[in-house]
Amino acid sequence: MTCFTLNGKPVTSQLPASTRLSDVLRNEMGLSGTKIGCNAGDCGACSVLLDGAPICSCLTAVAQVDGAAVTSIEGLHADGAIAKLQDSFLAHGAAQCGICTPGMMVAASALLAENPAPNRRDVEDALGGVLCRCTGYSKIIDAVLAVGGDTKISPRPQAGQNVGSPIRHLDGQPKVDGSLIYGDDEVPQGALLVRVIRSPHHYSSFKIGDKTGFLASHPGILAILDASDIPGRNCFGVIPPFADQPVFAETTALYRGDAVAAIVGDADVIAHFDEATFPITWTPHETMLSPASAMADGAAKLHENRDGNILVRGYVETGNADIALAAAAHQVEIHTTTPFIEHAYIEPEAGYATREGNRIVIHGCTQAAQMDRQSLAEIMGMELDAIRVVPSACGGGFGSKLDVSFQPYVALAAWVLGRPARICYSRGESMRASTKRHPSDIRLAVGCDETGRLSGFVFDGVFNTGAYASWGPTVANRVPIHASGPYATKDYRANSVAVHTNAPPAGAFRGFGVPQSAIAQECAFDLLAEKVGMDRLAFRRLNALKNGVPTVTGQVFNSGVGIDDCFAALENSWHAAVLSAASFNQTAISDNSPWRKGVGIASCWYGCGNTSLPNPSTMRMGITADGRIVLHQGAMDIGQGANTVITQIAADAFGVPVHDVQILGGDTDLTPDCGKTSASRQTFVSGKAAMLSGMALREMVLRHGNVDANAKIAFDGAALTLADNVGGTLRIALADMPVNDYGYVFMAEETYDPPTSPLDEKGQGLPYAVFGYGAQMVELSVDSALGRVRLDKITTAHDVGRAINPLLVEGQIEGGVAQGIGMALMEDYQPGRTENLHDYLIPTIGDVPQFDHVIVEVADEEGPYGAKGLGEHVLIPTAPAILNAIRHATGAAIYDLPATPDKVCAAIAAAQAAQGRP
Ligand code: FES
Ligand code: FES
Repeated sequence: MTCFTLNGKPVTSQLPASTRLSDVLRNEMGLSGTKIGCNAGDCGACSVLLDGAPICSCLTAVAQVDGAAVTSIEGLHADGAIAKLQDSFLAHGAAQCGICTPGMMVAASALLAENPAPNRRDVEDALGGVLCRCTGYSKIIDAVLAVGGDTKISPRPQAGQNVGSPIRHLDGQPKVDGSLIYGDDEVPQGALLVRVIRSPHHYSSFKIGDKTGFLASHPGILAILDASDIPGRNCFGVIPPFADQPVFAETTALYRGDAVAAIVGDADVIAHFDEATFPITWTPHETMLSPASAMADGAAKLHENRDGNILVRGYVETGNADIALAAAAHQVEIHTTTPFIEHAYIEPEAGYATREGNRIVIHGCTQAAQMDRQSLAEIMGMELDAIRVVPSACGGGFGSKLDVSFQPYVALAAWVLGRPARICYSRGESMRASTKRHPSDIRLAVGCDETGRLSGFVFDGVFNTGAYASWGPTVANRVPIHASGPYATKDYRANSVAVHTNAPPAGAFRGFGVPQSAIAQECAFDLLAEKVGMDRLAFRRLNALKNGVPTVTGQVFNSGVGIDDCFAALENSWHAAVLSAASFNQTAISDNSPWRKGVGIASCWYGCGNTSLPNPSTMRMGITADGRIVLHQGAMDIGQGANTVITQIAADAFGVPVHDVQILGGDTDLTPDCGKTSASRQTFVSGKAAMLSGMALREMVLRHGNVDANAKIAFDGAALTLADNVGGTLRIALADMPVNDYGYVFMAEETYDPPTSPLDEKGQGLPYAVFGYGAQMVELSVDSALGRVRLDKITTAHDVGRAINPLLVEGQIEGGVAQGIGMALMEDYQPGRTENLHDYLIPTIGDVPQFDHVIVEVADEEGPYGAKGLGEHVLIPTAPAILNAIRHATGAAIYDLPATPDKVCAAIAAAQAAQGRP
């Protein structure tokens, strides 16, 4: 028994003295605002105050707080500095998915209590122990710094002014006060706990032993579930023709982390279960972790129908690359490699299921509620209507939560045992089991003429797609379309291949393979510019794609190609930075300092939505009899701001202030299918569907009132008023009108599916209706003695077509850039070796520099109000711009990522040796 003060009130914990304080707070005290990201002291999500000082509650035994005062996010009373802090987080857009926000707020409140006017360094030090994977930290720093100053005013736009307004997140308040419910924050009465038994081997046959005897000797464990318990199809996959992943492997586990069984029972028993006692025998096989080993003669075949372990190949060809390359005045060849990269969202996979009669209801975090529903219907052998998915808040996803993960296990357990069943992956389980960014091995040869114009481009990319297909086909198909970068490339050939190995399945991660290919292309362009003797930005501008110039798939956009506008936006900063670096380096040489400065640039383009496939989104908007406007917004908001941006679009299309619109989330019983949150499609595709719904609803209301198209719509309680241009006003009593089956007096539902066409055998066609463009410039310093890289500043220019919400655009850019920094400098997932957040490093608050942004708006004809997607684009240029800047600073060419200090030192030594210097 432990007595302490919690949020100002005396409490007593009955749990054992060694229980984690975080578990006491969440499970015994019912305070779920304290989040668990790792249970190991690495992420800081569990931060609380102990006698005013921040601590990790996951590393603190409850006995350690005996007699002390503990303050959790719920106890940070919304008055004084805390109210200002909450408001400042909202005004700066500092909470995206919000899972790290309680930890950030707790750490910031301790800082502000001691130092009401901190500087940037103070904030970085105080918040340094809390990881955020979404924001890039800059907005969080700004929010804390602003607490001591004037309050940042957030706009509340009127009808017609919603689009373009930097309003705060509409769903932000519960993120900053800790009340938002994520996958593991809700425990239904009587819920059982599920634990998945996973392969500890990369590749192994197995046999499950005596289940009956095991259950008899393990009171509290009610069931072992395995492949024999699946009522439907023991298989799932995000792309139906390639679906190949079993819920439970049947005889052979193909990767370390493959699920083979699950145990279900009382929470305490399951949580403390020793997996070594599970009745299973393993027969490990020779492991193939690299594509080379999986493609070698005699290699074991991981999937019966996939010869050579090849999942799929991608191909695009136009012109004659070989002839052009042979005729080129200058040529370069480059070989780049990148490792697995872990998504490292702070919220692990979590949720629960309940059986309700003949239906299964699944609650939890996801990026694709409707896709989960379809997979579960097949796995459970049920009609689609028998499955309901109710998404919780999603604490980051970045692509990996598109794939089914925990859902089948809780669904099956709840179905078989007739009781609610829940699960929350540990950090290790999340990292072992979840999908990763594809490792790449890319060879590129590219040439240009005497003037610098591209002449020939031959690309070969091998992608390690791991044990199962996941999004491997998408990566293999998307890369050859994008490998040219946003440049006019007449003579082009790009091959890609996705190869199965015994590694974790590689899936979707912000960019679907394009960040990997951009590293090769953008680093090669620096080498080529050098050969021509051209400024690197000028070289890119010379070759930049323009309106009316065909892409490598022969697609021609007559408007909306904004890449050169992005380059132009960086022009002045670029020349100033190059001059400044040269001057610094001259002084450094004479001072014998090891530090050198460099500047790098890189670009991106990215097709928004599915590649040459249907990609529809449906939005419903209705007006209730009591005068509420409801938007059924099923585009999962995983922190990127879909709830806010799509509502801004719908509000302007209908003609009301955005703050008058209520959002109904992605519950599959209530909201139509908006498709998945992936491929930067939600602002463009779901935004367009929202625009069409808003317009249709407006037309319906105006027609009902028989007023002109410009009439103003307003609500006055349960009445709707229509005011025309000549002073006439019509009042419609909504309560007197009949309601439809959905409870609306007026309702519109519209679907949008972007126009694309299939690619032919040479990859020619119209893969995407819209591309977004961008360029980033990195200024950095390299310690040439120790290989340390310090980022000084990153300037971005992204063409978003129309910035529906400029504040959220900046937040997306900074978050993507931070992930690009991780990719360039530190992230390297190695199965079996880096399955936690202390061995797998992601950028912390101190790793991210200051930003400068130029938001470029070259309107797109197809996008809603001209908008293009943005989410994936922003990560693509960062890593190549950093690599180009390191080379500019030191001559070190690093093409094997990440550029860790040892590799930087080795590359500097190689560059010096090549120049004949000791
Ligand atoms: S949950 Fe405590 S530090 Fe991550
Ligand atoms: S907002 Fe920080 S992890 Fe998502």
